[in-house]
Amino acid sequence: MAAAQSDDYTDPDDIGVNASTEPSIGDLIERRLSRRDALRGLAGIGAAAALGSPFAATDAEAQAAGPSTLTFKELAHTLDDTQHVAEGYEMQVLIRWGDPIIGAGSDFDPKSLTAAEQEKRFGYNNDYLGLYPMPAGSRSGDRFLMVANHEYTNPNLMFAGLGSGRGAALKATKDQVAVEMASVGGAVIEIARDGAGWKVVPDSKFARRLTATTPMEISGPAAGNDRLKTSADPTGTKVLGTFGNCAGGSTPWGTWLTCEENFNFYFDGDAARLADTELGKRYGVARATNAWGQHVDRFNFDKEPNEPNRFGWVVEIDPYEPNSPPVKRTALGRFKHEGCTYALAKDGRVVLYSGDDERFEYVYRFVTARPWNPNDRAANKNLLDEGTLSVARFNADGKVEWLPLVQGQGPLTAANGFATQGDVLVKTRMAADLLKPTPMDRPEDIETNPVNGRVYVVLTNNGLRKPDQVDKANPRATNDHGHIIEIAPKDGDHAANEGAWSIFLLAGKPGQDAGAHYHRATSDNGWLSCPDNIAFDSKGRIWIATDGGPSAAGIADGIYAADTVGFGRALTRCFYQAPTGAEVCGPIFAPDDGTLFLAIQHPGEDRNSTFEKPSTRWPDFKDGMPPRPSVIAITKKGGGTIGS
Ligand code: FEO
Ligand code: CA
Ligand code: CA
Repeated sequence: MAAAQSDDYTDPDDIGVNASTEPSIGDLIERRLSRRDALRGLAGIGAAAALGSPFAATDAEAQAAGPSTLTFKELAHTLDDTQHVAEGYEMQVLIRWGDPIIGAGSDFDPKSLTAAEQEKRFGYNNDYLGLYPMPAGSRSGDRFLMVANHEYTNPNLMFAGLGSGRGAALKATKDQVAVEMASVGGAVIEIARDGAGWKVVPDSKFARRLTATTPMEISGPAAGNDRLKTSADPTGTKVLGTFGNCAGGSTPWGTWLTCEENFNFYFDGDAARLADTELGKRYGVARATNAWGQHVDRFNFDKEPNEPNRFGWVVEIDPYEPNSPPVKRTALGRFKHEGCTYALAKDGRVVLYSGDDERFEYVYRFVTARPWNPNDRAANKNLLDEGTLSVARFNADGKVEWLPLVQGQGPLTAANGFATQGDVLVKTRMAADLLKPTPMDRPEDIETNPVNGRVYVVLTNNGLRKPDQVDKANPRATNDHGHIIEIAPKDGDHAANEGAWSIFLLAGKPGQDAGAHYHRATSDNGWLSCPDNIAFDSKGRIWIATDGGPSAAGIADGIYAADTVGFGRALTRCFYQAPTGAEVCGPIFAPDDGTLFLAIQHPGEDRNSTFEKPSTRWPDFKDGMPPRPSVIAITKKGGGTIGS
């Protein structure tokens, strides 16, 4: 979701509701000491070693730093109505909002779009992208199922006559709300490459849309919990739909994990009348920012008080089985899930990392109870229903501890409101608060580098952090530009209860934004703002997508790449820039590193931008056609590995 600070859009990510972050006197003293240490470390700025990284190059090495392993000529920072990529590369629009994916379809006309039509077409605001080889189990590099999350809608850019500003979305009619509900969730498409590039395979039998009305199952320890029961579902095990699908992940057995992030803003009602006002408050359930609750009863919690509790989960979907029901895996906890990416523990258990993307929220990890079975796909079907969810505490000494959220352990007792593990999971944020984890600067994507095995935690920003709330892992007050933390699990085992953390980079413009820190050779165009989603190529280099550059720094959101080890460590370079209003999401490489797919989300989401007069008409640039969120494919002219 955009971190735009314009008046035109309510930014759900910008509203912190974690009241448990008010510091105690002891915390204040500790934080002041931590901050002094952090500042002392940063005063010697220049080498990554100054940040205390156990992995960093030494100062002497940094001074002798040779060039990055990345060879493209970086772009100059800019901000305009179209996209740009480094010289020598080309971009192709693979699929746009409204392109038909089920049935042959007709030309897209947003003015006559119905919900029934939208259900057969690619959805709005594409975010996470996943690739699954075709046929299943093959090593194909030319044919894939691609999954895409569709996070939210911009009704004022989708429909005529709504105007701009915060109230525009609230004016949507019942029919327009139905289109919105058919525009979110996700999509499965089949793509193939030929001499002319990547194409969507027409009429694929795997093509599928998930929307806000798709029937889904609820499984795991919270299934059947009283707080999940509604008049339509007295069992608390069946739910309609998914939305707020931001980042995501895959499992080793080739299923898609789509994450429900800003679910609270879809629900309307009087928060003071909720049965559990504390629960509603901790998840920001209050007034809706769109019109769904005006037209659909279950989105009005005065009428259906438990419906909000059925969102905020991770949903597992099998893209190879188009008729299989999506399953909300409650064992992974309920919060504003931002990504859910896996690594394998040494014993074969599956470890999933997930951030809770709001200011002062936490970083989580789930470890399955059993190893996955590489030889029997069906045996992994319900593997995500059993395991241990933990929350992270980043200590000032560079150690990260994983604190288990297990009913009956420590403060997670019936007396404190957690009678069952289901209670712990429905109220994950409240359970976590009791364990005193570290409140972070908007944990977004968390991914494991396939080459060095370290885990990268991307923190988008936190303009609300006050000087007395600074700690070593979140070392800046008014952190408008975000940072990236690197974790080395103990003994290289992702299931270990601890690891070592350090800071990989602190974003912002060096010399202008306090504490901004990269490799010393980072150019005037290489700095970035608001890191959000990341991908690694097969050499272990990091490709950072940003969300918020225009409002925080006056530069387009884009893709920045850097080495993670060696002399080019944290030497970021600008590779791609998005059109105005857009953030860059879902970066993913084809297995040969020859294509980088990107989801370009909410182009034209700018102040005063409307359907009639959008700030850009990317990618069609056709009179009357509004901007369209789209997936693009970037390749090197003449072919070859991206980046080098
Ligand atoms: Fe939807 Fe955390 O961005
Ligand atoms: Ca984001
Ligand atoms: Ca995101």
